[in-house]
Amino acid sequence: AQKIIIDTDPGQDDAVAILLALASPELDVLGLTAVAGNVPLSLTERNARIVCELAGRPDLPVYAGCDAPLLRKLVTAEHVHGKTGLDGPQMGDPTMPLQAQHAVDFIVETLRGEPSGSVTLCVLGPLTNIATAFRRAPDVIGRVQQIILMGGAYFEVGNITPAAEFNIYVDPEAAAEVFAAGVPLVVMPLDVTHKALTNRARIDAFRAMGTTVGDMVAAWTDFFERFDKEKYGAEGAPLHDPCVIAYLLQPGLFTGRHVNVVVETGSDLTLGMTVADWWRVTDRAPNAMFMGDVDAEGFFALLTDRLARL
Ligand code: BDR
Ligand code: CA
Repeated sequence: AQKIIIDTDPGQDDAVAILLALASPELDVLGLTAVAGNVPLSLTERNARIVCELAGRPDLPVYAGCDAPLLRKLVTAEHVHGKTGLDGPQMGDPTMPLQAQHAVDFIVETLRGEPSGSVTLCVLGPLTNIATAFRRAPDVIGRVQQIILMGGAYFEVGNITPAAEFNIYVDPEAAAEVFAAGVPLVVMPLDVTHKALTNRARIDAFRAMGTTVGDMVAAWTDFFERFDKEKYGAEGAPLHDPCVIAYLLQPGLFTGRHVNVVVETGSDLTLGMTVADWWRVTDRAPNAMFMGDVDAEGFFALLTDRLARL
């Protein structure tokens, strides 16, 4: 199976992504690393453990990582995800332990311990843990098989400022370093995730599973939708982070272009913007497979099929 580490800031959509990975035998999840993002670290590591327990995997190691961006003050997204980050259904506290090791040390140790080029990093939150690992141990950069991340935007532009997507905006310096690191990158920007929208039928399909996981995912997505519906009159909510895991399972669901992407760190106005050279108007070398489209029906079919196995 494909070895992955999931770096995450759950988040209802992160939770669904983690469940999708844990439901998929093609993937060997070596560990979950939590980062501050949607909510502070004390909640994201807790939420990661809640999701493991829900999936029946209390054995999975969960590590807490960086509690703040490299240079900036943490910006959170309770306006989307609620106070706990996983608002929606009633949930108790997790009982499985948090690992004592720091997430960054786990990432470094794992990349050094596993055969070079065999571990893929799936990044669902701000890039702080990954950039910190690369700063601390530059020898691991060349050992990463690839990074698949949810972040950025091009045509669809921003969701936290007019120019920037949340994960990149929260820690633009970290993102800039990771995009420049020379690791093969696959990027799921808002352009893709805003085509993977929940709707009544899709949420009903989760509930119709008649399982605890199905009920929880339905309750989470019901809550998560409320923001886009109330604020934008949208039909549903973008299921951002599961796109990262779906790509590993069925890459043919997505199309994009291999282009150069640079993250803006200097301008207040466009801080965290992913400047993608979609039309190849510069001679900057391509560094990322920047996705632009998804087969939404196929994506939800995959998601529903897999989650039903839990
Ligand atoms: C990203 O930000 C978070 O709110 C979501 O979990 C997703 O990772 C979308 O911009
Ligand atoms: Ca996330």
